[in-house]
Amino acid sequence: MPADFSGVVARPTNLAGSTRDFSPEELYWIAREFEVGVITGIEYFIDRGNINLHTFLVQDEDGGSFLLQRLNTDVFTQPHRVMGAMQDWIGCQARAVNKRKVQWVPITLVPTRSGEPYLDLSDQTGHSVWRTMVRIPDILSYKNLGQLPTRMKSLSLAEETGRGLALNSDLVSEMNIDHLVSSLPGYRDTAGYYAQLHSVLAGHVSEPETESLLPKDEEVRHATSHLYRLAIDPEEARRRREDPEVASFIEQALENESWATGLQQAVATGEVRRTAVHGDTKIENFLFCKYTGQVRSLVDLDTIMPYTWLADWGDMVRSLSNVAGEKEPDPEQIQVDQEVYAAVTRGFLTTAQEATAAETAWMPEAVETIATELGVRFLTDYLRGDNYFLLGPGDPPDLNKTRGIGQLTLAKRLKEMRPWAEETVRHYSR
Ligand SMILES: Nc1ncnc2c1ncn2[C@@H]1O[C@H](COP(=O)(O)OP(=O)(O)O)[C@@H](O)[C@H]1O
Ligand SMILES: [Mg+2]
Repeated sequence: MPADFSGVVARPTNLAGSTRDFSPEELYWIAREFEVGVITGIEYFIDRGNINLHTFLVQDEDGGSFLLQRLNTDVFTQPHRVMGAMQDWIGCQARAVNKRKVQWVPITLVPTRSGEPYLDLSDQTGHSVWRTMVRIPDILSYKNLGQLPTRMKSLSLAEETGRGLALNSDLVSEMNIDHLVSSLPGYRDTAGYYAQLHSVLAGHVSEPETESLLPKDEEVRHATSHLYRLAIDPEEARRRREDPEVASFIEQALENESWATGLQQAVATGEVRRTAVHGDTKIENFLFCKYTGQVRSLVDLDTIMPYTWLADWGDMVRSLSNVAGEKEPDPEQIQVDQEVYAAVTRGFLTTAQEATAAETAWMPEAVETIATELGVRFLTDYLRGDNYFLLGPGDPPDLNKTRGIGQLTLAKRLKEMRPWAEETVRHYSR
């Protein structure tokens, strides 16, 4: 029975506000602003059994299925920038898919009735920006490799994920990035994360104290300067810094600083290409054909930025190959799943067309780099007072310490197996 929305005519007011719920009538009004047919249903989108609070499934009379999303403008304070990058990205992919004849489904944005690519309902109370995408049909998505019933299936999913990143990176390799700016200023700035660590270790509490460490870029500085100062009582911060469980990891992070910033340097010097990258390549954001298991798309395009695909690679492999997951409190349990690592490498290297030899040589180190960078970010946040990776009501108070130790342990294990990883890359590069 189609829902009866017949009473809704007027534009609802006060649609801004980050934690706001929306009534069915408001959602109907918003959905109807887009070029969809007669709407027969709107509901929260249930993804892998979880309710996604900012995505709604919209269905129309013609059998169309759409995802209506509200941009999280608490995190992405410049929604127009996010949407501009997303449009460039999917436009570039659509052209490249045609040219290269690869099996890939770029995201399609549904325009508004007035021909805009997205709906901006922002007012003086705040941002309210909405987009509608065609829901890609017949796909499955996964939270982790363990969701598959057999080891063989997990490994072939890992291989498909590697193929997916290769296809994605090839398809956007020609995207013009002259005007592309990160929608998260300071994201993936390894040197910046280290500067935060130094500032927090020095116990800085005021802006003047942090001055010499702050980023030079005005926008990055504005967005991140608070991350250079303690967010907790200095005594508590001292206790955290002097915690013997943390000491060796601080030491490890500091010892590794100069090589950890090497990838960033390689982009700066042009040793590796600077291209558009996705920025959030966890497996959840890849879509796979539900019949063949083949990778079909990479979604969640809010963090597009100019950098190197090696960062997307590193983030993907560090998360896929970490057996214990990101919240494991026992460092002994943190191990690298070498079969997964090899499968994802095979998938990537047997597919990628545009990756250069200089770039593929960086692949093992890029994984270590992103694990280290994330470890530094978690650890710094713990030392500063958990004001970036906010703790939820059910989280242990030292979760960021646990996560920092976890990623730095992972980085150490990855480094120990560097010769094996290099041999694996060489093997599949042939
Ligand atoms: N265009 C699409 N077609 C089909 N499914 C999609 C599409 N976009 C997103 N999804 C599904 O919805 C999930 C959540 O969307 P995403 O954009 O990743 O939002 P979030 O910010 O919640 O991660 C994805 O993991 C994917 O399973
Ligand atoms: Mg996502």
